[in-house]
Amino acid sequence: MTLLLTAFMVAAAGCSSGGDSAGGSTGTGTEEQAAGGTETPKIGVAIYKFDDTFMTGVRNAMTAAAEGKATLDIVDSQNAQPTQNEKVDLFVSKKYSAMAVNPVDRTAAGVIIDKAKAASIPVVFLNREPVAEDMNKWDKVYYVGAKAEESGTISGQLIVDYWKAHPEADKNGDGKLQYVMLKGEPGHQDAELRTKYSVQAIQDAGIEVEALAEDTAMWDRVKGQEKMQAFLASHGDKIEAVLANNDDMALGAIEALKAAGYFKDGKAMPVVGVDATAPAIQALQDGTMLGTVLNDAKNQGAATVALATAHSLRVRRQRRKIRVMTLRMANMSGSPIRKLRKTTLPTPNNSREGRPSYRWRPFFWAYGREEPTWHHLICWRWTGFRRVSRVCRHLVR
Ligand code: GAL
Ligand code: CA
Repeated sequence: MTLLLTAFMVAAAGCSSGGDSAGGSTGTGTEEQAAGGTETPKIGVAIYKFDDTFMTGVRNAMTAAAEGKATLDIVDSQNAQPTQNEKVDLFVSKKYSAMAVNPVDRTAAGVIIDKAKAASIPVVFLNREPVAEDMNKWDKVYYVGAKAEESGTISGQLIVDYWKAHPEADKNGDGKLQYVMLKGEPGHQDAELRTKYSVQAIQDAGIEVEALAEDTAMWDRVKGQEKMQAFLASHGDKIEAVLANNDDMALGAIEALKAAGYFKDGKAMPVVGVDATAPAIQALQDGTMLGTVLNDAKNQGAATVALATAHSLRVRRQRRKIRVMTLRMANMSGSPIRKLRKTTLPTPNNSREGRPSYRWRPFFWAYGREEPTWHHLICWRWTGFRRVSRVCRHLVR
């Protein structure tokens, strides 16, 4: 499985720099760069804040992917847009060959693009998607991130499967699903769209829903716990499911639920998150978290570095390669993706005592003028969660 995915990423990245961005080995790209007389490109990377579980995974993935290919100057914007703008100014003054920016405020991307364009430094945005108007400001602007709608839909489907398999989940027997929602940062595409599409997926499965409460916990574990405590205080046993826009908030909610006596003596609560971080995989294994959706830190990090590196190479021969990447990458958003999905990555449905013990479904999605690619994988506990966690861990690594 991992082999297949890696093979795919190599195929995708191989045409960008002639090297191997996912496998981490030294490919021909490095040699050709040397032959072309280019130095290792310097890339300025501004993360919205270092203290974020998922973004820490992306940051580490970028460092690993850059080894031998680029020098990264990674800085913490400390959740302040003015600080990030200063960092960008610094990157410009240092004449870096590309920038990778995880905006604090995604609507501030326009200002960053203006600075980048004026200095002719390509910029790859990641994780926080600039609005289309800003993306269209310049043709050396890229975006790498997961497709928020899909993460939402998949997390909703996890709840649907649970609800259908567990009639007792309808605690008050009114045929409706009473849920609470822990939202990420307001205005963040992943918060808005995951919220919308997770509920939509439940309704699309013919299940009536009632939102008991919805509040933001800003992607944060401690805030997730506090908000869940408040939800429990006002709605108690009326709550039949907890939807969280990310794993950290789901894990916080699980803490609050544990304190309220859940996850023992037959007191159950389906809790879903998004990201598939290591602590979330552990919670799947412990049987406290029902499911999560992989937000692929590793390949998003690798794709960001591949794009920033490819576009910072100044040698003609390399440029030709870059154009090739454009074409082949662009193709991938069309039918070839679907074909690959069908032929090489089928959805297994392994039965254990007549029930599916795990399932996973990969997604590929590309976006931008010259699209990066990444994939989403889903895995969740059903009955034999040990099996699931093994699969997840294997894929996440
Ligand atoms: C989301 C992720 C969250 C948080 C956020 C930061 O994609 O699911 O956990 O990291 O990005 O922008
Ligand atoms: Ca109900």
